Amino acid sequence: MDFMELINQAPDTEPDRQYYFIELSRKILREKEASLGRKLSFCVTTFGCQMNARDSEKIVGILKQVGFEESEDEHADFVIYNTCTVRENANNKVYGRLGILQSYKKKNPEMMIALCGCMMQEPTVVETLQKSYKFVDLIFGTHNIYKFAELLFNTLNKDKGMLIDIWKDTDKIVENLPIERKYSFKSGVNIMFGCNNFCTYCIVPYVRGRERSRKSEDIIEEITNLVADGVVEVMLLGQNVNSYGKGLEESITFAQLLERICKIDGLKRVRFMTSHPKDLSDELIEVMAKEPKICNHMHLPLQSGSDALLQKMNRHYTKADYLLIVDKLKSKIPDIALTTDIIVGFPGETEEDFLETMDVVSKVKYDSAFTFIYSKRTGTPAALMDNQIEEDVVKDRFDRLLELVQTVGREKTGKYEGTVQEVLIEEVNEQDSTLVTGKMANNTTVHLPGDSSMIGKMYQVKLICCKGFYYIGEII
Ligand code: 5AD
Ligand code: SF4
Repeated sequence: MDFMELINQAPDTEPDRQYYFIELSRKILREKEASLGRKLSFCVTTFGCQMNARDSEKIVGILKQVGFEESEDEHADFVIYNTCTVRENANNKVYGRLGILQSYKKKNPEMMIALCGCMMQEPTVVETLQKSYKFVDLIFGTHNIYKFAELLFNTLNKDKGMLIDIWKDTDKIVENLPIERKYSFKSGVNIMFGCNNFCTYCIVPYVRGRERSRKSEDIIEEITNLVADGVVEVMLLGQNVNSYGKGLEESITFAQLLERICKIDGLKRVRFMTSHPKDLSDELIEVMAKEPKICNHMHLPLQSGSDALLQKMNRHYTKADYLLIVDKLKSKIPDIALTTDIIVGFPGETEEDFLETMDVVSKVKYDSAFTFIYSKRTGTPAALMDNQIEEDVVKDRFDRLLELVQTVGREKTGKYEGTVQEVLIEEVNEQDSTLVTGKMANNTTVHLPGDSSMIGKMYQVKLICCKGFYYIGEII
């Protein structure tokens, strides 16, 4: 049967269509391997956030079903970059590394290169790739990742040239495709996709599309299956988990979803990110306080402490609103760990604005914070704003902020020294193989003597000493 006939016979419904293409790709791969006399390998490299990490697991799941073997590095027959575009330097990194991939491809004629993820949703990026990176074989975006098996089949069948499939948006959510988890005992779980907030600096709503929630029964079913497969901790993923449920036929809030998830037997820890302060409800705080499975950690992006800037950023809260939420969280969940994202150098940021941000950091005393230098993203409203801040001013503010964040972080982390805490062991320590590394419920890292048999299990650990942002402990 020829290529077009095979495509015409594909089922119309998902995920059946993708399973059909997995089977076909598997046959092609076997033939290729037979003629080459060796196995073919793949390497998926992920840039950016946990959403991308989860998407990469979906890609790996399909590649493994097709029969590719995972390679240790990018000297592979099929290299895929799952890209991020939230800041300009993420894009530059990809272009830089593509140059290296080209030299690998010259040595390996079988090599295929695919690019996907947020950066591909930017038309100017695709134009640049078409013009200057002609050796790339496949480009697809964030909305059609569920079609990866079909795209892979088409790529395996094409002679030369670049296959490009980018969608502007989608309301489609395809369930039950294969996924290969990176960790056996913990997993990310998407509860929603996209974002409707349009913070003025942020490109995410343009590249990830409109907000859509997964049905609660699909989420519960996925987590139940994960737990049956050995998972004890889930991280619920969404750009704005606090608005979960909007647009669904069923009437459900994020707090209600959490309550249902906590009822799943065998599941030990539930985490979630990211929360938007404007949608954080009292109901959520109540549920967090009463459900022991929900980790005592809240990642609550501040972005700025200045009311004027928060308004220009389109964040829909004030400094006082934010501090009120933090007070509520601290009073209902006394040992809660708080982390945040902060942007320095947003257009028009004055020294006074910046000091407001510093003030919030001093008051909240975050356990840790991701601090970012504002990056101008073409197509966002902030890119057109007057008063872009000079580099040296931004750098100076960034350094001051980082120092404060580290000082308050150290104070916060240190307070558990000498106590006994439950730790989930995640991996053998990379530097010292006599140690294992795990996480407390509040997400603090602990290193302790141990071996690989402990991975995925919970232990009561005495925190012997605090070394800045982590502890050295021992099992009691
Ligand atoms: N410049 C700098 N930081 C940004 N973020 C989002 N867009 C930008 C940008 N243009 C940061 C925000 C967000 C985190 C994921 O990335 O702090 O919370
Ligand atoms: Fe970007 Fe704001 Fe949406 Fe977060 S909430 S993804 S910062 S637009």
